[in-house]
Amino acid sequence: MKQASAAHPAGKSYVLEPASNLSGTVKVPGDKSMSHRSIMFGAIAHGVTEVSGFLEGEDSLHTLDAFRCMGVRIERGGPGEVTLYGNGVAALVPPAKAIYLGNSGTGMRLLTGLLAGMNIPAVLTGDESLTGRPMRRIVNPLAQMGASIGTGEGGTPPLSIAASGRLEGIEYTCPMASAQVKSAVLLAGLHANGRTTVHEPAVTRDHTERMLRGFGVEVSVDGLSASIDGGQQLTATSLTVPGDISSSAFFLVGASMTPGSNLTLTGVGMNPSRTGVIDILRLMGAQIQVTNERVTGGEPVADLLVTGAALQGIEVPEHLVSLAIDEFPALFVAAASARGTTVITGAEELRVKETDRIQVMADGLRALGGDIEDTPDGAIIQGKRLAGGVADSCGDHRTAMSFAMASLIADGPITVLDCDNVNTSFPGFAGIAGAAGLHISEREADQIAEPVS
Ligand code: S3P
Repeated sequence: MKQASAAHPAGKSYVLEPASNLSGTVKVPGDKSMSHRSIMFGAIAHGVTEVSGFLEGEDSLHTLDAFRCMGVRIERGGPGEVTLYGNGVAALVPPAKAIYLGNSGTGMRLLTGLLAGMNIPAVLTGDESLTGRPMRRIVNPLAQMGASIGTGEGGTPPLSIAASGRLEGIEYTCPMASAQVKSAVLLAGLHANGRTTVHEPAVTRDHTERMLRGFGVEVSVDGLSASIDGGQQLTATSLTVPGDISSSAFFLVGASMTPGSNLTLTGVGMNPSRTGVIDILRLMGAQIQVTNERVTGGEPVADLLVTGAALQGIEVPEHLVSLAIDEFPALFVAAASARGTTVITGAEELRVKETDRIQVMADGLRALGGDIEDTPDGAIIQGKRLAGGVADSCGDHRTAMSFAMASLIADGPITVLDCDNVNTSFPGFAGIAGAAGLHISEREADQIAEPVS
């Protein structure tokens, strides 16, 4: 894991003076999971797919570039608008050089399943974080289907996908709750012989299943099992990507834990496999109202009204963990603000995200004066005011934005190190957070702070 220090910060830092609450209206950028999938599916569909609300973050733009490298015409229009001119799978050409996917586990895992199924040889690589992440979780089931995929030492990227002919459908029981594994296997199954079924141990996000249906593919779902028949073609469609509930989570937490806050979040994706953060915050006493509910592109969307209140510590129910998996860095901060003790268990997957998020959040909150004990599968957090200090995000977008929100419960200034990767999921975060009430400025490694609020 990358290590920065106050004296030698890696990339941009956030400098935050204590703030008291959040107010106004926030529109967060498009959903990252859906943005990746909109490119992957539009690129292999027949016809012209128009996407609006696309997340112009580094992760999803790497996926877009990957398909351009494979010969797909993709045009970017106004903000969040992308047009893909798909000619089906047969029109894709193998990439001439390694595909670089930056920080994105979703890009790498889903693309590997899709390319292996389409029999397109390719090498996939990424940044320091991604090249340390476990890939056997997808390579093993894909190998069972007949794919041949080489990995680096320890099962990490780069991944080398060899042309190995048509795959065979399988029935696969996934050992961990992972939408990325489920999606990789289903996307390989899309072009395999026969039927492919994935059984999951817990509910995970179902954007792949929903969006494939939008492209005219039949996917059947029965409880925790999803199945797809090989040989189906995708038909182009138009879709609107809603705001990312994972990006909203920082503001949900920031406003929920600070009395006096009054914040509206507009156009937030409310897929029930993603709303665990709202359930957990409500169990802690948060006042979150869901209004203006509608459906866009097969996905529920709503506006969220948050009124600040003092939170209380809870034992987080384990069945909510996979429904809030990306929101735990922010929830650690909510717990640090809450009266009493919060216990998080069953969340060991946090250790294999962009960073080991249990370790990074525990180290960072302790550095800010928090009382937190990390455990193998979670943490025990005692709520108290924070003193402030220097927290190292270790290059993880979600830990960086979470530590920024900690300035709402700190008595002294906070510096968050290594924040460049916020651009993977939330370009413009500092400006939006500043307008909502954080006293945040960005500082380049060798620069004096420039206030944005
Ligand atoms: C994602 C699934 C989740 C999540 C990631 C995006 C997806 O990972 O953490 O940010 O788009 O399918 P896992 O499925 O590995 O838990």
